[in-house]
Amino acid sequence: MGDEEIKEHNQFEKLIQELIDNECGISDDFFLPETIAGLRDNMTQLHKAGKMDYAGIGNKQDFQKNSLIRGDKINWIVYQSQNPYEEVYQKKVGRFIDYLNKTCFTSIKSAESHYAHYEVGGFYKKHIDQFKSEKGRKFSIVLYLNENWKQEDGGMLSIYPQKSEQKDILPLGGRLVFFRSDEMEHEVHPSSTRQRCSIACWLKN
Ligand code: OGA
Ligand code: NI
Repeated sequence: MGDEEIKEHNQFEKLIQELIDNECGISDDFFLPETIAGLRDNMTQLHKAGKMDYAGIGNKQDFQKNSLIRGDKINWIVYQSQNPYEEVYQKKVGRFIDYLNKTCFTSIKSAESHYAHYEVGGFYKKHIDQFKSEKGRKFSIVLYLNENWKQEDGGMLSIYPQKSEQKDILPLGGRLVFFRSDEMEHEVHPSSTRQRCSIACWLKN
């Protein structure tokens, strides 16, 4: 194995070990800063072009109900994207899936990811990521794209592990958070100072 491959396997191992120990894995160096910057630029372009939209909105009534729960606008990343930064992102997630399937006997078959943009004051109330009607989502991976995020900017992700206390995670650029979609309750708090950007990904079987 080359140095890069060893480094990557160590990153995968750390995430998996923390998931086992704490119900949540965190990595702050999963992607290079240039990849994070490229993904952030992509999202800024999408937002400027009006291509970010409220999630799963059927009609006005749904919108009103939904907006009490979540305020983010999203854009799905296409399968096998040709965008260089999305390609780096998808390929590494793909290798992580292979690693999980090989070492943990998970049977992940696909991944779906979207950019998420929260305006100042935007939030996502406490929820789990697996739907009652559709149980395909097994693991959640959130990657933050925010530059120079500070404690006082808020916008924390709170997670509520079953066997330990609530934990508050700052959405620092480059930080990646990994947890089980069917178990981990979590919540996005509003920032009163800044917009908040992330990519949310679900590993599915
Ligand atoms: C989600 C979610 C967390 C975050 O999109 O389901 O919980 O910190 N996102 O952006
Ligand atoms: Ni969620």
